[in-house]
Amino acid sequence: MCGIMGFAGGGEAAPVILDGLKRLEYRGYDSAGIAVYDGGRFCVVKRKGRLSVLEGELQKAPVPGSIGIGHTRWATHGEPSDANSHPHLGSMSRIAIAHNGIVENYKALREYLAGKGVAFSSDTDSEVVAQLAEHYYSGNLLETVAKVINAIEGSFALEFMCLDEPDKIIAVKKYNPLIVGIASGATYVASDVPAILRHTRQVVYLADREIAVLTRDGAAFYNMDLEPIQKRPETISWSMDSAEKGGYEHFMYKEIMEQPRVIEDTLKSAMPGGSNEPVLDALDALRFDRIKIVACGSAYNAGSVGRYAFESLCRIPTEADLASEFRYRDALIDENTLVILVSQSGETADTIAATLEAKAKGAKTLAIVNVVGSTIAKEADYTIYTMAGPEIAVATTKAFSAQLILLYMLAIRLAHRLGRIGREEAGAMVAEIGTLPGHVRGIFGEVEKIQHYAATCFNSKSIFFIGRNIDYAIAMEGSLKLKEISYIHSEAYAGGELKHGTISLIEDNTLVVAISCCDRLAPKTESNVEQVISRGAKVLYITSGGIAFGSDKVFTLREPRVGELFAPSLSVVLLQLFSYYVAANKGCDIDKPRNLAKSVTVE
Ligand code: AGP
Repeated sequence: MCGIMGFAGGGEAAPVILDGLKRLEYRGYDSAGIAVYDGGRFCVVKRKGRLSVLEGELQKAPVPGSIGIGHTRWATHGEPSDANSHPHLGSMSRIAIAHNGIVENYKALREYLAGKGVAFSSDTDSEVVAQLAEHYYSGNLLETVAKVINAIEGSFALEFMCLDEPDKIIAVKKYNPLIVGIASGATYVASDVPAILRHTRQVVYLADREIAVLTRDGAAFYNMDLEPIQKRPETISWSMDSAEKGGYEHFMYKEIMEQPRVIEDTLKSAMPGGSNEPVLDALDALRFDRIKIVACGSAYNAGSVGRYAFESLCRIPTEADLASEFRYRDALIDENTLVILVSQSGETADTIAATLEAKAKGAKTLAIVNVVGSTIAKEADYTIYTMAGPEIAVATTKAFSAQLILLYMLAIRLAHRLGRIGREEAGAMVAEIGTLPGHVRGIFGEVEKIQHYAATCFNSKSIFFIGRNIDYAIAMEGSLKLKEISYIHSEAYAGGELKHGTISLIEDNTLVVAISCCDRLAPKTESNVEQVISRGAKVLYITSGGIAFGSDKVFTLREPRVGELFAPSLSVVLLQLFSYYVAANKGCDIDKPRNLAKSVTVE
C-alpha cells in the first residue's frame, strides 16, 4: 500500500502535493516525503512518522518549485525510516521516483546494479526503480520508463522525474491504482480521487501498463510500445464534502452516520432505472449451480452474511471464501460456478488474484465494488457498484452496509428467477430493505446508551462475540471492527462452539457480546448467554426479541425487528458504534489504526 501524488503546474508544488498526500494517508502512514524540482536539482524532504512530521519540516524549511512528486508509505520492504521513505533518487540524483507496490525481482536487480558499482541508500525494493532508471537513461525519460517497466516484476504505481527533462512527470501502473487529473494550467497524478478533487473533477483512469506524461500544459498517454493512445477524462461527481470529515471528529463516525443514505442509494441503484440495473438484467441470463463469494476482511464477512441469503432464498449451494486461501487452493470451480468478488477498494491484491484465478478456471465472475474503475471492477466479467462514495476511515462501515444491500438484492432477484419466491414475496422483501435506512436512523437515537456502555468496557483484555447462523456472520464483523480500531483482542464464535473449548477462557467480567436476531435460534443463544453468565461473564446482548435476562450482568441493546436475513444491516450499526466508542475511550487513532492500511494492495 502507499499513496502517491504528483503535480505539474504554475504555482508552488509542495503545498499541493502535501494536501493530496493528506487525503491519501489512509493508504499508509508510517513515513512520507516529497521531491520538488528547483532550478537544477531535486529538493527532497522525507521523514519517518505521520505526514504531520513532514508538514512540520516543510513549514520550517519550505521547498520552492512548481513541479514535484510525493509519497505516503506503508512499509513492506525495509522498516519505516527517513532513508526508506520515498521519493527515492538514483545515486547520481538525476532521477526521482515514488512507488506504490512491490518489485518482486528487486534482489536480482539490486545485485545486477551493485555489480555495476551502484551504491544503494535504502533497504527498499523501490529504490531499484530509481537506480535502474538512471542506469538506463540516455536522454529520453519516456523510453527509460518503458525499459524499466519491462525489467521489473510485481505490482506498481510509479511516478518518475528527471533533472534533464524537468518539465514533466511520467506515471505508469500495473495492478495498483493511478489516476491523472487535468485542469487548466496544471496536471495531477494520484493514487485516488480525493487527493485531487479540490483542484479538478476531470480524471483519467490509467489502465495497466499505460504511461502518462504530465506537464503543466496537459497530459499525453502512451502504450508500452510508446505509441500515443487516446484517453478520455471522466467527470467525477463526488462532492468535496463527501471526501472530507464534515464537522465530525473522525471519518469513521461520519461514515457510520452516512449509512442510511448509502443504503437508500445502493438500493435505488439495483431497482428499475438504477445504475446497476443493466448489469443485474444481464446476470439474469447466466446459468450456474454453485456460488462462491470471495473476499478479504470485512468484505468476506459481508460475503458470509450473503451466503445465508443465497442459500436460504435460492437454495443454491453457496460458500464464502477468503481470497488469500481461495487463490492457492486449486478450488473446485468451473463454468457452472458464479464467483462473486466483494471489495470496497477493488484493489485488494488477494481479491484481484482470486478474480483472475476464477476467470482462468472458466467461472463466471461478478464484482461488487465501491471504487469505480478499480482493477477488480475492470477484471470481472460483470461489475455492480456499491453507492457508498469515498470511504476514508481504514475500518469500513458504510461500504460494508452497501455490500450487504447488493448481496440481498442479488439473492432476491435470483430466487425470483428460479421460481423459489413469487413476485409478491420478492416485492415485500425489497420493501423491507427499503425500511432499513429509517431503522438505522432510529438506532442513531441510541448512541448515548451505547457510548455509556462502551465507557465501561474499554479496559477489557479480551472480548468474545457470539451468534448463530446469520447472527454469527455479523458477529465476525463486530469482532473485526473492535479489534482493528481498539486493539482489544477479540474473537467471534458460533454460539454452539463455545462449549467445545472457548468457554474455558471465560472469567469474572469477561465481556461477551451476544447477537440474537434470529427468532428460531433465540432460545439457543439465550442458553449460551446463561452459560457464560454462570461462569462470571458480563454480556452485551443485542436482540430484536423480547427476552429480558434477570441478571445485572446483562446489558441489552434492542434493535428494530426485521426479517432475519436483513437484521445484520441493523446489528452491524450497533456493533460499529460500540467499537467506535470503545476505541474513542481508549484514545486510539480511530481513522488510522496502527499497522493497517485502507487498501491492501500487497500480499
Ligand atoms: C475492514 O474494516 C478492514 N479494513 C479490511 O478488513 C478490509 O475489509 C479488507 O482489507 C478488504 O478490503 P477491500 O474491501 O478494499 O477489498
